[in-house]
Amino acid sequence: MVNYVLDKYDRPMKDLRISVIDQCNFRCTYCMPKEIFGDDYQFMPAQELLSFDELERMVKIFAQFGTEKIRLTGGEPLMRKNLDELIRRLSAIDGIKDIAVTTNAVFLVKQAKKLKAAGLNRVNISLDAIEDEVFKQTNGRGIKTSPVIKGIEAAREAGLNIKINMVVKKGMNESQILPMARYFKETGDTLRFIEFMDVGNHNGWNMDTVISKKEIIRQIHEELPLEPLDANYYGEVASRYKYKDGNSEIGVISSVTDAFCSTCTRIRLSADGKLFTCLFATEGYDLKEMIRSNQTDHEIILQLIKIWTKRDDRYSDERAEGKPQKKEKIEMSYIGG
Ligand code: GTP
Ligand code: 5AD
Ligand code: SF4
Ligand code: SF4
Repeated sequence: MVNYVLDKYDRPMKDLRISVIDQCNFRCTYCMPKEIFGDDYQFMPAQELLSFDELERMVKIFAQFGTEKIRLTGGEPLMRKNLDELIRRLSAIDGIKDIAVTTNAVFLVKQAKKLKAAGLNRVNISLDAIEDEVFKQTNGRGIKTSPVIKGIEAAREAGLNIKINMVVKKGMNESQILPMARYFKETGDTLRFIEFMDVGNHNGWNMDTVISKKEIIRQIHEELPLEPLDANYYGEVASRYKYKDGNSEIGVISSVTDAFCSTCTRIRLSADGKLFTCLFATEGYDLKEMIRSNQTDHEIILQLIKIWTKRDDRYSDERAEGKPQKKEKIEMSYIGG
């Protein structure tokens, strides 16, 4: 039986985002700047990561609250050993209808087929530029676009549904808005432009670095006319548009200039088992401690009800209202976006 719980603003818990590892093969300047995440950076030790048994148990519990959708994130989730095994176990859980991964795609060439066979439905692939010279800068590792494009092709061949995510930051890649739109209009993959957000503590965010949804749409519409589409599901983060002369669509994720907190049904679990009720949280709840101190499912369920019913997060709305912002936030690579 499913027990729906609502938070302080009547939002259900529908969407569980699990970070499975905090490491990544990229060093995107806005997420894991190489000056901070250098060779001597201490990532989580293996024993701190939730095991597959622990994750399976947790997802079974979340499914009892009406959670239907699981997104695996990182860092780079495909760097977690035997990810297909985890997907196989999670997709067998009653009530779980959708399993997706957010990835930079490089390891999809090797893994797409076996992930699909294990029960993965969808991949959201991060790609911030279509021109090598820009992309080499954004990913911080001098990597060209071809390994990502090959990953996208592998996902397509494996039959996975694909969306492309492009973070747009002024001074970094605004030159790529139209080239990316043109490229993915042709391939037919949905391209989503993401307003650069003030997540974490090291990405040098300020309002001047944001290119707004309005500006992104204006630029594209001028060359490639667009019309709005309805949301696919309650709480979808992207506003959707389709090209007037074809079937391809784009989305814009506007957490800065047009926030979507009022329908936020997301809860996040870090790789070391901390639970966060907002992407911009300062502190999490130690779920791993609950699991490893031998609490029963019933005890954990009571804790989760407590956590969700007192949830009143609406960080992006508050930012738009000009409320003072928090100083210490968790890092994007730790919580997985
Ligand atoms: P779909 O299930 O395909 O709709 O995926 P998604 O858009 O929820 O997930 P994805 O990992 O592709 O996220 C795309 C971007 O949206 C990332 O930059 C996320 O950080 C951002 N995002 C997702 N959820 C939230 C949220 O709750 N709050 C904010 N502020 N940003 C979010
Ligand atoms: N602002 C917006 N999006 C970001 N992402 C990472 N850091 C930021 C940021 N500061 C995106 C990644 C990926 C998703 C999980 O989050 O590019 O697509
Ligand atoms: Fe890695 Fe994604 Fe962060 Fe880039 S945005 S460093 S690919 S986790
Ligand atoms: Fe949800 Fe927090 Fe993002 Fe608002 S800022 S949509 S409450 S995660």
